[in-house]
Amino acid sequence: MSEATVDATVDNSRRTWLITSAAMGGVGAAAVAVPFVSSFQPSERAKAAGAAVQVDISGVQPGSKIVVEWRGKPVWIMRRTDQQVSDLAKIEPQLADPTSKRKAYPTPEYAQNRHRSIKPEVFVGVGICTHLGCSPGDKFAPGAQPSLPDDWVGGYLCACHGSTFDLAGRVFKNKPAPDNLEVPPHYYVSDTVLMIGEEKKA
Ligand code: FES
Repeated sequence: MSEATVDATVDNSRRTWLITSAAMGGVGAAAVAVPFVSSFQPSERAKAAGAAVQVDISGVQPGSKIVVEWRGKPVWIMRRTDQQVSDLAKIEPQLADPTSKRKAYPTPEYAQNRHRSIKPEVFVGVGICTHLGCSPGDKFAPGAQPSLPDDWVGGYLCACHGSTFDLAGRVFKNKPAPDNLEVPPHYYVSDTVLMIGEEKKA
């Protein structure tokens, strides 16, 4: 099936998501349910209209991830370890679109790089599978495990139909998901504060 055909099958109306966990992702650590983290609470009306969300990420430790809500979607903010950043290069031959050229979910210019982020260690992505809208689970621990290859270096698994993504949200080859995970518009207000949902004004 051509890429254009695959893209056309994406049905945004079915992009429901379940957000039951935000895993603390150290190697070997079990998933731990934690609530949404948001340092800034816009009004309900503003949220419905898609207001940007400001998030303090100073407490996000290397190897862990938090989840915030923006426009009703779960937005993942993960601080990758040095090892996790260097593994992004190692697995590129296994990825369907390592340079984020596909257009079903266009990647902002500032994230069109290997790590798909402004800072190499901090990934910001929408936690909704680009296939049919499930929310992939954290599979940060490397190594062989059910539904994953023996040379797994850590990433995300969508249990619905088996799509796998690396820690930059890049989909692996020959998976049902047609594109990498979406990177929402965002920028750094300061070194430790992110604004999710807006581009930086010139
Ligand atoms: S919804 Fe993720 S693989 Fe189908």
